[in-house]
Amino acid sequence: TSSLPIYSLEEVTKHRSLESGVWVTYKGDVYDITDFVTKHPGGDKILLAAGGALEPFWALYAVHKQDHVLEILSEYKIGAL
Ligand code: HEM
Repeated sequence: TSSLPIYSLEEVTKHRSLESGVWVTYKGDVYDITDFVTKHPGGDKILLAAGGALEPFWALYAVHKQDHVLEILSEYKIGAL
């Protein structure tokens, strides 16, 4: 169980820029990755997923199918859908 808040998809879609914050979803959880954007080894491509789901992009870029990538993502969790 988690004490983190539940967010609507509509709320997530409002966060798609560095100014408003960059949120993404993954497997039903919500992440605020704003502070990771400039650290991303794949550069600005990460912004393609801003305000939506990571799954379609990670399906294309298999480099993310590694435990250490999921560990990074987990640091940014803010809630669930
Ligand atoms: C590479 C994390 C989203 C495209 C990486 C790597 C990490 C990472 C840790 C390096 C992996 C390694 O070499 O071991 C993340 C996280 C994301 C995210 C935490 C979301 C929160 C995305 C998205 C895209 C993307 C949405 C594309 C639309 C890439 C590409 C690379 C990469 C192309 C390879 C860079 C290179 O080696 O030249 N990402 N990523 N990433 N990522 Fe992401």
